[in-house]
Amino acid sequence: MKQGELRRALIVVTGLCFFLFVYLYWQQSSRPLHALILTYRHVYSSTRESLPPQWTWQCVNQRCERHQITGGNVKITSQSTCGMLCGTMQLWPLPTGPVTLGSKALVFHQSQLQFEAVASGEAKEMLEEAFVAFNDSILSLVRDDNYLNEKTDILRFVVRVSVTRNDPTTRLKLNTDEGYTLTVKFKNGDVLAEVGARSYFGARHGLETLSQLIWWDEYEGSVGSLKVLKGATVQDAPAFPYRGLMVDTARNFMSIESLKRVLVGMSASKLNVFHWHLSDSQSFPMLLPSVPQLAKTGSYSPQEVYTPDEVKALVEFARYRGIRTILEVDVPAHAGNGWTWGPQEGLGELAVCVNERPWSLYCGEPPCGQLNPENPNVYDVLEKVYRDLLDLSGEREIFHLGGDEVNLECWAQHFQKSNANNNHSDLHDLWGEFTGKALARLQKANGGFKIPNVIIWSSKLSKRPYVTKYLDKNQITVQSWGASQWTDTPELVADGYKVLASHVDAWYLDCGFGRWRETGEAACDPYRPWQTVYNHQPWHQLRLSKKSFLGGEVCLWTEQVNEWNLDSRLWPRAAAFAERMWTDPSQDTTTYSIHEDVYTRLSVHRERLISRGLKPEAMWPTWCSQNPGMCL
Ligand SMILES: *[C@@H]1O[C@H](CO)[C@@H](O)[C@H](O)[C@H]1NC(C)=O
Ligand SMILES: *[C@@H]1O[C@H](CO)[C@@H](O)[C@H](O)[C@H]1NC(C)=O
Repeated sequence: MKQGELRRALIVVTGLCFFLFVYLYWQQSSRPLHALILTYRHVYSSTRESLPPQWTWQCVNQRCERHQITGGNVKITSQSTCGMLCGTMQLWPLPTGPVTLGSKALVFHQSQLQFEAVASGEAKEMLEEAFVAFNDSILSLVRDDNYLNEKTDILRFVVRVSVTRNDPTTRLKLNTDEGYTLTVKFKNGDVLAEVGARSYFGARHGLETLSQLIWWDEYEGSVGSLKVLKGATVQDAPAFPYRGLMVDTARNFMSIESLKRVLVGMSASKLNVFHWHLSDSQSFPMLLPSVPQLAKTGSYSPQEVYTPDEVKALVEFARYRGIRTILEVDVPAHAGNGWTWGPQEGLGELAVCVNERPWSLYCGEPPCGQLNPENPNVYDVLEKVYRDLLDLSGEREIFHLGGDEVNLECWAQHFQKSNANNNHSDLHDLWGEFTGKALARLQKANGGFKIPNVIIWSSKLSKRPYVTKYLDKNQITVQSWGASQWTDTPELVADGYKVLASHVDAWYLDCGFGRWRETGEAACDPYRPWQTVYNHQPWHQLRLSKKSFLGGEVCLWTEQVNEWNLDSRLWPRAAAFAERMWTDPSQDTTTYSIHEDVYTRLSVHRERLISRGLKPEAMWPTWCSQNPGMCL
């Protein structure tokens, strides 16, 4: 090769590399979030030989009856199609407005879907992501790709979503209108599904409902097919603005993938607040940019750490699914491991009683640990922590300050040991002052602006006489977690506080798995079945105004949970909770019997969660799902 040719070849190769680089870069930046979208495939192996179908379902008095298939020429109906067309709704949670559903189905292909976003600004961009998530949940229904070779009933399936109010904020707020309308029509060979909403979040819920009117019929054609209801109208809006689910990632670490599954289940059930209880006395798994010492000394291992990028990406993953993320670093108690580096850095003891024994004297469960309220450096560190949490979550309307289970004995014995000058005859005052100082630092971390809603776990401090002295009812919402019969909730309401209900006897999903240590009572037994979760309606049972409740939250503490049983602890019970919060259906409070329709719909929703990649626990024997109404 001559010198000139070599140079030319090099220029060509360099040029090609440049274009490839630009192309790849453009691909990446034009869909930055695409990598976040989970795609769950559920395609059964077609190489495995299977028996011919043996059951057909027949709609009799709005109930699908299972029958054995006999003879060759009967028209057989799958359970999914029978369930959809048999006059009962398959939607979960049940819409709160009027609903009409058609009684015929149309066969279609996913490739016929066309999406149109009628919105402006960021809402429009977000809708593009919502379409990808919607398209993914339809894909998750497909059991055999060969269905694309069969005929369909339609030409196009147009999904048109309009966000009418030009709301510049695309962050969920307590006053966000999450309502929507949905219509499905069949005209000139096209299916037209229209979602109308006044916010991105309402629009997203409408798409979620639309996805629940689409199903896989395994008896259609030779390999099965997708179907959509021919005609529907739905009007819907939630009963409460705060429909939360809490996961603790400190007792046991949960991978980001497993937390994504939590968010997928939440969005399918229209829950809208992911409360991430990220740290506790056992470990501190989140790497905070301004205070990396917490994770460096407090995580279980270098692998069991959430990086800032992972947290931000998860927050976005949630936001597109209609969920806000609230990051909680519980203080002053439930803080020990991760807080021991003060002396080495000349900051003094940031936490006291860390890993102290006998633990039962100084905390509710081992290991102990509580921040040192007399050390001014603690508040400087907290301000940095708060600045990072606000930045990572992007959340400035709601903040969770913790405040769970402070043990005054821990502080008392520390002051005694260190001969520190403690001027408080009642240590509740010290606790109250700590809370005031933490709140002031939170405001400073938020650029001097007050966070309008700060949540605190219910405690002695949130009871009379301390509550009115230390907690401003215009800012503080108390997350009431004691038993629902305790006086906490009604007293708080009487004193003018907003309550977030998380009563331990109904909405603690970790309970009922026996004790994990030798000493201490198993205060949390028994297991709360989904019916208990569903029936809990504290505003009604305690005769309080619904308006006194910001909403409710199911809690999953994870002493006995890791990412392998996370799904089954949460689902389908968190979905039962979701219908209580979204629909708040009325019930007969003398018998508390649950209607057959609820069992049927929840078992369908449970299947839906499975197709989206979750692993919920069984509700009952499969026979009961196949024979609606027969197990009640
Ligand atoms: C929906 O998903 C299918 C299957 O992955 C894909 O072929 C199609 O392009 C997607 N449609 C849209 C509009 O994104
Ligand atoms: C306690 O009170 C004394 C006298 O008022 C004061 O000098 C001291 O700084 C106070 N100590 C603490 C820990 O607040």
